[in-house]
Amino acid sequence: MKNKYLYIETFGCQMNVHDSEQMAVLLSGVGYQLTDHAQKADLILINGCSIRDKAEQKAFSELGRLLKFKDKNPRLIVGFGGCLAQHLGEKVYGRDKRVDFVFGTHNIHQLPRMVDAVLKERRRVTQVAFSDKIESLGIFAPPPPGSLGAFVSIMQGCNNYCAYCVVPYLRGPEMSRAPEDICNEVEKLTRCGVQEVTLLGQNVNSYGQNTAFDCDFPKLIRLIARIDGIRRIRFTTSHPKDLSDGLVECFQSEKKLCGHIHLPVQSGSNRILKRMNRGYTLEQYLAKVKRLRSVRPTMAITSDIIVGFPGETQKDFEETIDMMEKIRFDSIFSFKYSERKGTAARQLPDKVPEAEKRKRLIRLQNLQNLHTQEKNTALEGSIQQVLVEGRSKNSDLDLMGRTEGWKIVNFRGGSDLIGTLVDVEITRGFLHSLRGKMIES
Ligand code: SAH
Ligand code: SF4
Ligand code: F3S
Repeated sequence: MKNKYLYIETFGCQMNVHDSEQMAVLLSGVGYQLTDHAQKADLILINGCSIRDKAEQKAFSELGRLLKFKDKNPRLIVGFGGCLAQHLGEKVYGRDKRVDFVFGTHNIHQLPRMVDAVLKERRRVTQVAFSDKIESLGIFAPPPPGSLGAFVSIMQGCNNYCAYCVVPYLRGPEMSRAPEDICNEVEKLTRCGVQEVTLLGQNVNSYGQNTAFDCDFPKLIRLIARIDGIRRIRFTTSHPKDLSDGLVECFQSEKKLCGHIHLPVQSGSNRILKRMNRGYTLEQYLAKVKRLRSVRPTMAITSDIIVGFPGETQKDFEETIDMMEKIRFDSIFSFKYSERKGTAARQLPDKVPEAEKRKRLIRLQNLQNLHTQEKNTALEGSIQQVLVEGRSKNSDLDLMGRTEGWKIVNFRGGSDLIGTLVDVEITRGFLHSLRGKMIES
């Protein structure tokens, strides 16, 4: 069989990245080999994100660029998938009629059949129906050779309906995978050399709810921690309202659980948190941060913040700034509120003007840079456990790895250390990375 080439362009969060890995595996089963060169491809997939308007624009501009390859290669077929395809369905063809097929977030396992139908019958195929089973999550994607880390989906969908967010409409209701399936997958990954797993879900803290099995998120972490070969466990994302005492205890007792939590706060104003339908108050959030820090004082805490949610006054924004001063996050992702079709926030009055959102975002990001620098400087002189990922981008003499807190460390060392855990003394903290010196054991 002649080799056929597949090119995938992915946008959005780790879930979409992981979905793309699964697409590649399924299509390799029908003869497609991944390539980094779109001009060589027989099949191109765009896995789009719809979380904010900007993400949507990016995917469409890339679609336009990639469709041009059809002029030179009429046999090339192009599929549009992911959250953005779920959002738009057949409307994608209205954006560009050269798209051959459209598939949603629950339809990944149907890809080989869809491609076959497009090739054989030369007709458009659209599959965006939700399924009540979690078929797509069961696909085992072997990590590329030499990978130390891998993603593992433990659940899909979301039931939270935060007022600004489209995800529940695009990924469907929450469904958890059985713990045995997850553990089997982790074991398989360790046999491929993986030492660090990142457990994925929109709200991992509600893992196991409304299921026939008796396993919540802390219990799942303990099961995975027992697997030989796994040295580090991470997870994302954790919703503050469902962060349990059990999870805090895991941070205390499970040494393999990395000292890092991504805990999106979104706003520091109780009025706005309520309008966002987040289900917690600032005081409850602060209490959870305090508990986490009481069991792991050095724990890195990162977050997401939205500025300019409808009705956000200057006073509300100042409360967000005060909250940041109190907590001092290690880093944050910050966004201007982007209105999304179908969400509750779209109906809310008192929209914040674009220029005001921009101003607030800049102020918030400048403050965060100060805090990130302060946190990284505070690490100078400390000893950090680092999982060595490879050679550094900056210098051939250096290695690069990550601390438990997800911070990049560059330090001198030989390639034989790649894939090992080493102790590194931090000599300098910069805004985006740390410099260190390995401690010889
Ligand atoms: N499930 C995760 C978040 C997934 S989306 C959680 O609840 O924590 C990632 C981030 O995008 C969100 O935390 C939020 O900060 C941001 N976001 C989502 N919808 C948005 C919108 N309409 N405008 C701006 N930012 C948004
Ligand atoms: Fe969106 Fe909220 Fe669900 Fe996160 S928890 S995916 S922000 S609705
Ligand atoms: Fe985007 Fe879907 Fe993730 S909308 S952020 S790719 S869940």
